[in-house]
Amino acid sequence: FPVDRIRNFCIIAHIDHGKSTLADRLLEMTGAIAKTEKNKQVLDKLQVERERGITVKAQTASLFYNHQGQQYLLNLIDTPGHVDFSYEVSRSISACQGVLLIIDANQGIQAQTVANFYLAFEAQLSIIPVINKIDLKNADPETVESQIEKVFDIPREECIRISAKLGTNVEQVLQAVVNRIPPPMAHINDPFKALVFDSNFDHYRGVVANIAVFGGRVKKGDKIVSAHLGKTYEVNELGLLRPDEHPTQKLFAGQVGYIIAGMKDVKEAQIGDTLYLQQQPVEALPGFKPAKAMVFAGMYPMDQSEYPGLRSAIERLTLNDSSVTVQRDSSLALGAGWRLGFLGLLHMEVFNQRLEQEYNASVIVTAPTVPYKAVLSSAKLIKNRRATQKNMVYIDDHRVMMKYLFPLNEIVVDFYDLLKSLSSGYASFDYENAGYQAADLIKMDILLNGQPVEELTTIVHRDRAYSTGKAMCEKLQDSIPRQMFEIAVQAAIGSKVIARETIKAYRKNVLAKCYGGDITRKMKLLKKQAEGKKKMRRIGNVEVPKDAFINVLKRK
Ligand code: GTP
Repeated sequence: FPVDRIRNFCIIAHIDHGKSTLADRLLEMTGAIAKTEKNKQVLDKLQVERERGITVKAQTASLFYNHQGQQYLLNLIDTPGHVDFSYEVSRSISACQGVLLIIDANQGIQAQTVANFYLAFEAQLSIIPVINKIDLKNADPETVESQIEKVFDIPREECIRISAKLGTNVEQVLQAVVNRIPPPMAHINDPFKALVFDSNFDHYRGVVANIAVFGGRVKKGDKIVSAHLGKTYEVNELGLLRPDEHPTQKLFAGQVGYIIAGMKDVKEAQIGDTLYLQQQPVEALPGFKPAKAMVFAGMYPMDQSEYPGLRSAIERLTLNDSSVTVQRDSSLALGAGWRLGFLGLLHMEVFNQRLEQEYNASVIVTAPTVPYKAVLSSAKLIKNRRATQKNMVYIDDHRVMMKYLFPLNEIVVDFYDLLKSLSSGYASFDYENAGYQAADLIKMDILLNGQPVEELTTIVHRDRAYSTGKAMCEKLQDSIPRQMFEIAVQAAIGSKVIARETIKAYRKNVLAKCYGGDITRKMKLLKKQAEGKKKMRRIGNVEVPKDAFINVLKRK
C-alpha cells in the first residue's frame, strides 16, 4: 500500500462524549463491520468496558475507504478516555499524524478534552474538532465552537458538526481524515522500526503486540529485538486488525497491525517500546516511560482458604496489564494477601471488578494509599498548604478552568465524588503527576487500652490527623463488641492522644439463656463461644473481631 494513501489517526474525547459510537459508525461505513445493533461499540471488548461504557484497553482497526476513485488505508487507533490511562493515550497519539477531537454539543469542553488536546498538540498532530450529539434537544454547537476558538485557538470553520448516533455528517469526518491529516513520514527503505502502542496476553499464543511501523518492513521468521529489554524474538505471526486479526505476510512502513513473537509476558512488550530487526539496530523512539503506579491498595481473600485461587487470578490478570505492580503482603488482621499498585482509582476499580467478574474471586480491598518519600530532617517543619492555585481561565460565560497543585492523597479518597456532588455533576476533573512535594506528614497510631494496633498505623497529614483519627476510633467503637471491662479506643501521635471513644463494659454471659442444668446444651454454648474467640484477635486484653479491622481498613 503506498504510504501517501495511509492515514493514522485516533479519536480523543472527554468520557461519554461519543468516541466509541463514532468509531462504530466509521467501521460500518467502511464495511469493516456489519450494521447491526449487536455490534454496538465493537471496540470496547472487555465486559467491564461494556458495563461501564468506558474504554479501558485501546483497540485498533484498519479501514479501507474509497475517496475520489482512490483507495485509502485509514488506521483508527482507539484510545482509553480516562485520565488514569493518559500514558496509553499519549503512546497511541504518537503512532498517529492526526486526531479527531470529539466534543459533546451539550456539555462543551471538559477537563479531559483539554488534557487530550494538549497531548495531541504537543505531539504536533493535525487536530480535527468534531462536535457530536447535534441531534440532542439542548445541543448548542455555536457556543461549543466559540469555546474551541477561545481555548484551543482553532478557527470555528474547521469544526464538523455530527451526530454519531444517527450517522449525520459522519461522511465529512472520513473526508477530513483523508484531506486534513498528512500521511505518515515512513520510508520503506529505512531499517525496520516499530512502536508498541498496546499489548495483551493470549493464553495460547503469548503476547500480541499492536505496533505502528515507522520504517522498513517486517515478515514472519524475522529476528526482532525489543529496545527496552534488549531481548531477541522470532516473528511467528503478523497482520492487520480489522478490528479482528487478519494475518498477512509482511507489515510495511506506515502500516499499523499486530505481531506475535513468542513473548511470554506483557512486560516484554511494554507500551511505548521500540521493535527493530536484530541485524539492523536503530535508536529507540523517544517518550518511553515504564508505567508508574500511583495508588496502592491491599487485596486479601475473604477467607485464607481462597488464597491460592485469588493468587492465580491476580497472576493471570496482571499478565495482561503490565502497569499493575504486585507485592506479597500480610496483615495481622487480614492474613496473607498482596499490595497492588495502580495507575489511578479507576484502574484499581476496573481491576477489582475484573477479578470478580472474570475470575469469580471475592476480595477485601483496603482503602487506597499513595506513595510517600520520608525525609528525616527538620525540612518537615515547612508549613504547607494542601492545595495551591496555579491558574484560572474562563472558557466562556459559564465555565471556568482552574489549575491547582494537589497532594495525590487528597484526590484519591473522595475528591472526585465530592466535586461531582458539589457541582451537581457539572464540574469535570483531570490530573497529572507533578512529582513529590514536601509535606507535614505524621505517623498516627490507634490504641486499644493503651496497646498500639500495628495494622492500623497510618501516615496522615497533620491537618487531617484529628478527623481521620476520630473516624477510625468511631468505626472501631462500632465494631468491637462490649467486653467485661471498659475499652479506650484512642488515636495518638507519638505520646499525644488526639481522639478517643469508649466502649462500655458488659458482661456477656452465654449461659444466661440456659434455664436449669442441661449439661450438653451448656457445653455446646461454651464451645461456640470458644470458636467465636478463635476469630478474634487479642490486642492487650481486648478481643477484636476480624470484621472490625476489615471495617476500618476497607474502602467505603
Ligand atoms: P468512553 O469510551 O468511556 O470514553 O466513552 P465514549 O466517549 O466512547 O462515549 P460513547 O460512545 O460510549 O457514548 C456515550 C453515550 O453517548 C452513549 O450513551 C451514546 O449512545 C451517546 N451518544 C453518542 N453519540 C451520540 C449522538 O450523536 N447523539 C446522542 N443523542 N447520543 C449519543
